[in-house]
Amino acid sequence: MELLKKSDAILLGAVGFPGVPDHISLRDLLLKIRHDFDEYVNVRPIHLLKGAKCPLKDVRREDIDMIFIRENSEGEYAGSGAWLYPGTAQEVVIQNGVFSRKGCERIIRYAYEVAKEKKKTLTSISKGNALNYSMVFWDQIFKEVGKEYPDVETHTVLVDAASMYMVKDPKRFKVVVASNLFGDVLTDLGAAIFGDMGLAAGANLNPERKFPSMFEPIHGSAPDIAGKGIANPLATIWAVSQLLDHLVYEQWGWKILDAIEMMLTERIGLTVDQGGTASTKECGKALADLL
Ligand code: IPM
Ligand code: MG
Repeated sequence: MELLKKSDAILLGAVGFPGVPDHISLRDLLLKIRHDFDEYVNVRPIHLLKGAKCPLKDVRREDIDMIFIRENSEGEYAGSGAWLYPGTAQEVVIQNGVFSRKGCERIIRYAYEVAKEKKKTLTSISKGNALNYSMVFWDQIFKEVGKEYPDVETHTVLVDAASMYMVKDPKRFKVVVASNLFGDVLTDLGAAIFGDMGLAAGANLNPERKFPSMFEPIHGSAPDIAGKGIANPLATIWAVSQLLDHLVYEQWGWKILDAIEMMLTERIGLTVDQGGTASTKECGKALADLL
């Protein structure tokens, strides 16, 4: 952490290895960085690029154009709970969802700002019909903060219904704000509808810039294909594009996305998961050549 702290930004490769329990390799590394560097905003574009394969029928490209803003510091990820009487018949585990006023307000406000700036609708993902503390509180704060943004059109959709609509009618979602766990689940679904995990990137932002922000593919380390040289690097490369945007080199961020789009439309340098035959290296080289 001391070393990372000195960086302007962090690019994280996918982490995880068979034999090391995930709650060690991820909780004590990825989640620790997100938490300790106060990267409380996780921005995940769910955007159908030209040429990307969409498994949904009758969808136009502009119908899948969402920005997911996932709360990245608390909720069910806060690490609060207990494991009582392990190994006995009375064994009980408790995993608390932690929703602070500060935590909810800052992520919801961030999402309103994005919706206002982009002149797009804002949808809050909830489950206030069943989670009588956390999500009722979330809904209340969503309304309260909304008073500061009278021009932003808002919607609240229950998480179960949202997962259905993302498949049946994705165009209803533009800017979306969700709690940590709901955002985690829905962004994998989002990846599935816009070309698969091999393209999905995310930015973990500390908006105050007190700490470095971190950019990463949202997929795992794919241990089943480790060492074969066939993993798709494009999600990581999309994360680099987000990193450049963050460092205010947007003109370069866009160029990278253009190059990825060109690869997809012209079918150049694509890896097996995208229906191509290129190796990881060839895919990277194709992109570098286009740039
Ligand atoms: C993600 C991942 C992580 C998360 C895991 C690896 C801990 O699924 O970035 O979406 O749940 O946040
Ligand atoms: Mg995830």
